[in-house]
Amino acid sequence: QSQSNHNGVADQEVGADQSLAPTPTAQQFPWVLYQSCWLRPSAVESVKVVQSQFTPRHDDVFLVTYPKCGTTWLKALAFAITRRSRHGSDADYSHHPLLTCHPQDLVPFLEMPYRQLHPISDLEALPSPRLLCTHIPLPLLPPSVFTLGCRVVYLCREPKDVLVSLWCFINKVNKNYTMDKAFDLFCEGVSSYGPIWDHNLGFWKKSVSDPDNVLFLKYDEMTAQPVEHVKMLAEFLGIPFTDEEVSQGIVEETVNLCSFEKLKSLPANSSGVSDRIGGVPMENSSYFRTGKVGDWKNHMTEEMAKKLDDIVEEKIKGSGLKF
Ligand code: A3P
Repeated sequence: QSQSNHNGVADQEVGADQSLAPTPTAQQFPWVLYQSCWLRPSAVESVKVVQSQFTPRHDDVFLVTYPKCGTTWLKALAFAITRRSRHGSDADYSHHPLLTCHPQDLVPFLEMPYRQLHPISDLEALPSPRLLCTHIPLPLLPPSVFTLGCRVVYLCREPKDVLVSLWCFINKVNKNYTMDKAFDLFCEGVSSYGPIWDHNLGFWKKSVSDPDNVLFLKYDEMTAQPVEHVKMLAEFLGIPFTDEEVSQGIVEETVNLCSFEKLKSLPANSSGVSDRIGGVPMENSSYFRTGKVGDWKNHMTEEMAKKLDDIVEEKIKGSGLKF
């Protein structure tokens, strides 16, 4: 059903050149507004499957991000933290799965690859406690995620850096997605799972009202203080590092194993192509670009930056959330 959003974007499909369908280029552009969230049509179907068929368990852990906010990093960290008893709390990380598998493949997405092809039974078969990942905004998640008291870790990132990261990622497979077009759409709130400010605010407000179950993290702060954040994450997940682990240097070992430089250098992450989204094969290396805070300066003018800053500031005003 076509809807008009609050920014006046009335088209059901934005930027779609139907004459190009079904080429990969054309498939990149259309988004539809589903329950106030911009999604590609195939993602809408997938989210509907999650909403109607996925049954959360009380001990599930959900890693939630807006795309390009550091999902790959959070997956690696949470995987390393939760599996450390099995993969070397004696500081022997020489056989760790993260050395041979892409972090994206170690923690499954709720909604991807699109669930109409990959049934929910894939997730039901996983043993508890499950570590799961999603980009689905809070209002679209099954409500029992919150009523059951599942732990939710939300990682956000400064919106200008998100836009640049997103543009670089999509532009690899879709040259029509120019920076100017990406910027205009992003400022309207239009990109997958957007508007980004609604996505951020949903989890921010929940983390304020329910801090025991929702941990709200920021990419920039995590980059500046990774050791503190890894400890915080382990604590939140109910498996704090023991004094012995701390003195053995396991926290630093975890940080190093999951660092941008380390992961980017591994063959599983630096070579090959995988289709994790569904119909959009991407180079494994495209999940590791610069890993820097403030890279927007290399791709956006000061004028663009001010415009987006002003929009975001207005949208999150009064919430207490700051970037
Ligand atoms: P840049 O494009 O700014 O470099 P996602 O995983 O949500 O798709 O986000 C991708 C962004 O996270 C990319 O940002 C990528 O470089 C960065 N990234 C990937 N792995 C990282 C890591 N281990 N540490 C820090 N940043 C990482």
